[in-house]
Amino acid sequence: MPRKKWEIPERQATDEDVYLNRRKFIRRAGLGTIGLLAGCIPEKLLNPATLVDPTKYLGPTIIEPIPPSEWYPAPTNDEFSTLDRPLTDEAVAAKYNNFYEFSTSKDVWRYIDNFEPAPWTVEISGLVPEPKTYDIDYLIGIMDLEERLYRHRCVEAWSMAIPWTGFPMRDLIDFVQPLSSARYVRMISFFNPEVAPVQWDRSDWPWPYTEGLTMAEATNELTLLVTGVYGHEMPKQHGAPLRLVTPWKYGYKGLKSITKIEFTSEQPATFWNTLAPHEYGFISNVEPQVPHPRWSQARERFITTDSNPTELRDTLPYNGYAEYVAHLYE
Ligand code: MTE
Repeated sequence: MPRKKWEIPERQATDEDVYLNRRKFIRRAGLGTIGLLAGCIPEKLLNPATLVDPTKYLGPTIIEPIPPSEWYPAPTNDEFSTLDRPLTDEAVAAKYNNFYEFSTSKDVWRYIDNFEPAPWTVEISGLVPEPKTYDIDYLIGIMDLEERLYRHRCVEAWSMAIPWTGFPMRDLIDFVQPLSSARYVRMISFFNPEVAPVQWDRSDWPWPYTEGLTMAEATNELTLLVTGVYGHEMPKQHGAPLRLVTPWKYGYKGLKSITKIEFTSEQPATFWNTLAPHEYGFISNVEPQVPHPRWSQARERFITTDSNPTELRDTLPYNGYAEYVAHLYE
């Protein structure tokens, strides 16, 4: 496993040159650049056994985040660098979205101008040793971003293929070290009817949009917290500044514009399951043989380009990701 940014390897604890590489060094509040003070660093900070323990770096110890100007393009994860189908055109993906806060049809881009995804914070709460609210640029800046090509399957039976940029959710979980009593992760989007007209018009819906995963799902290799698409920052309609992507599940699990991540012992209520429990479950894996109460899921309308807008394909079990996740549901 490659090291994460907050895991400082031994050679970095002893090699001043590496310390001075600003992408990977740590600063202690009030101490200035640690590398310049190598002679007088407390032993516990130089002990690699301590340095690789992320729990030691919560609180006043600061990890130097990479600034947003250096986030894109992120390196491709070789395991997810090809797909069995072409990518959907970027412009098509940006004009065919589900983001019900702004529109109940696909033309979300027309209604999203007033939404400001910056400045933004994400609150980490519930069953964690240190509940805390993070500035989004800090949170993203301390994670290792990577690009992955994923199939994207909506419960409405349309699908796309999208290059997401983000970081594995399990990296965030490693960083915040939830308590052993945490069994679920609950994620919450924003509530602001002044900029999101449907939150006003449909005030009877259970806003804010909420989703949830089991801890095993949240820590699965596939589960990505996404910040960008097509090699750059994510446009607002895809869920800026931070969204979830779980490619083996129907797209509605992929909550956009996350404001809060809470670790819980009980299964959290979710937006669609609250609104229509007989149609939308909590697990919501892509299962071609299980029809939606109102339509079949056996086939999907794959959206590629404007000139060749859709192609009918067989839906794949777990959207083609069975090798990564089927064991979770045996
Ligand atoms: N997140 C929020 N906050 N609000 C939403 O309405 N729609 C979901 C999901 N995340 C939704 C959301 C649904 S139904 C789908 S299919 C995907 O976002 C669509 O993601 P995309 O528009 O980037 O393709």
